[in-house]
Amino acid sequence: MSKPKILVTGGVGFIGSHTVVELYNAGYEPVIIDNLNNSEAFILDRITQITGQKPVFFKGDVCERADLQALLEQHSDIAGVIHFAAYKAVGESVQHPLKYYHNNVSGLVVLLQELQAKGINNLVFSSSCTVYGQPEINPVTENSPVQKAESPYGNTKQICEEILTDTVKVSDTKAIALRYFNPIGAHDSALIGELPLGVPNNLVPFITQTAIGKREKLTIFGSDYNTVDGTCVRDYLHVVDLAIAHVRAIERLLNNESTDKLEIFNLGTGKGSSVKEVVDTFVAETGVNFNFVYGPRRDGDVEQVYADTTKANNVLGWKTQRDLKNMLVTAWEWEKSLSKK
Ligand code: WQD
Repeated sequence: MSKPKILVTGGVGFIGSHTVVELYNAGYEPVIIDNLNNSEAFILDRITQITGQKPVFFKGDVCERADLQALLEQHSDIAGVIHFAAYKAVGESVQHPLKYYHNNVSGLVVLLQELQAKGINNLVFSSSCTVYGQPEINPVTENSPVQKAESPYGNTKQICEEILTDTVKVSDTKAIALRYFNPIGAHDSALIGELPLGVPNNLVPFITQTAIGKREKLTIFGSDYNTVDGTCVRDYLHVVDLAIAHVRAIERLLNNESTDKLEIFNLGTGKGSSVKEVVDTFVAETGVNFNFVYGPRRDGDVEQVYADTTKANNVLGWKTQRDLKNMLVTAWEWEKSLSKK
């Protein structure tokens, strides 16, 4: 007897694809909707190679009501939804705010409306630690103040959490918002991983592309912060650990374990690492040196943010298992496999 069907929006993307694998591992039946704007179809074959199962894939857009209606007509037995589909490049959101507000905010509104029309009440939402801005105190708990967003991207995450807050009050919708810190790394098989389109915005894909020779050098944005070595501090977590958290969250909803109609969890390791520590760990663990220089600070960067994970550990029953070394080694193995593709 297979476990319930779970709709995964953006399920071909970085975190989405790793979550689809973990849903299979837990015996669920994922159904993917993805418009492939920010992901590549070969990842579906890779998921099959890893799991031995061919995911149900629907090429479509959560902003398009007709796409969702067609999918939900075909799969009326969907028990819950994990909603990844959103744009997430902080810098791009500053240049193209309406693209972000439409896709990230309207996408959630249309999705919620169509789910409610079908009586599908369980939603796991992909949120972000960017809602905390530059926290006064680290580590941040779920009760740390949400600060004015530094970018339209961060603002869309705050607005979406507010939409969920208002919606669960007056409907049967139950939701869990997962505030990711910095997901990095790749599946142990090196068959799936992060696929930045064009020049990577994020640190780790830029490191691996520099190490493999696709980029001339890494620029470390800022070395005069008030941190251990002057470079910014983040809470990096392994994407597989993050994926497993989503399975725990959807199970919590399906099993009616939630104590509030909207629950929020920080997903991190609870440990901060500086940019320079990430660089040094990569070189030490892979034995691969690469060029880097120190450059000016990047607009919108916060100096230091890392998670208090007490609530995720004790309430969600989830704790990261993989360390920074493994995150960087798996990211490197994935980059090398991409170069052979
Ligand atoms: C990390 C650090 C940069 C590139 C990301 C996502 C955001 C959210 C949180 C999910 C910063 C430095 C980077 C480079 C560098 N995740 N850096 N040189 O900004 O923390 O945000 O995680 O919602 O969506 O974007 O991650 O990897 O861009 O930067 O020095 O070439 O690495 O300054 O200090 P960030 P990042």
